[in-house]
Amino acid sequence: MTGRVVVVGSANVDLAVDVPRPPKAGETVLGGRLRRSPGGKGANQAVAAALAGGADTTFVGALGEDEGADLLLVSLGGAGVRADLVERAEAPTGTAFITVSPDGENAIVVAPGANDHVRIGAAQAERIAEADVVLAQLEIPLDVVAAAAAARKNTARMILNAAPSRELPDSLWDVLDILVVNEHEAADLAGEPERLLKRVPAVVVTLGGEGCVVLRRDHEPVRIPGIPVDVVDTTGAGDTFCGVLAAALARGRDLPDAAKQATVAGALAVTRPGAQAAVPTVDEVAALGGNAP
Ligand code: RIB
Ligand code: NA
Repeated sequence: MTGRVVVVGSANVDLAVDVPRPPKAGETVLGGRLRRSPGGKGANQAVAAALAGGADTTFVGALGEDEGADLLLVSLGGAGVRADLVERAEAPTGTAFITVSPDGENAIVVAPGANDHVRIGAAQAERIAEADVVLAQLEIPLDVVAAAAAARKNTARMILNAAPSRELPDSLWDVLDILVVNEHEAADLAGEPERLLKRVPAVVVTLGGEGCVVLRRDHEPVRIPGIPVDVVDTTGAGDTFCGVLAAALARGRDLPDAAKQATVAGALAVTRPGAQAAVPTVDEVAALGGNAP
């Protein structure tokens, strides 16, 4: 079973620079060479679902009519992501300004641009209705996330990666099957990760290099240990995790098994610079102990 995934979300041109440390308010910091590469949480997750997760993956997003759009379309196409339903908006392609510190940690500011024009029209709704898993994040308007959830078949699962942190309306909580958050996002939403289970049946809390925890109603928590790797750049590692999680679920794996595979893929992603450029292949994930599809 290949599994069908639709990722609804943002696509950005990432402008990244290595810095000795992130600037404080009012401060200028001299950094290294500028790196320009394809990013955006949605597009990153789509690339991961296809390339590292081996799923039949469609990306639903919006790009401008500019060179940044070309950069993203080449990356999506190269990973085997179906990009035929991407809208072209009269706005610049989203852009992310990223600093990367010596420890590989990043700080990001996003100018959404075209990402505010993502929409679920008839064609997008039709593709979503064929999906086993629908995956979204919070760099696009919330009503688009809700429309994507509403378009899925009732056996399909709706995963929300609640990044970046935003307050969610009740109407959106009610349609989620799985929430993926890091510790900060979990705290922003509920304080205690366990309290999130009151609102959504399953929660995966990512713990950076420490792996992740799978929380489900009526189940004991499952702890997936991290994999020790040399950290180069954590940008997009969480996105790789989400994309592979979605792909593995679409192929029929259970949540802890999918989270294990996602943890392996996320670990590989931090060993390389960039977001989409750092996504490993299915074979690389399998070689490090992730399950082959
Ligand atoms: O999660 C990493 C991503 O966040 C970057 O690629 C950047 O574009 C922002 O969307
Ligand atoms: Na990376």
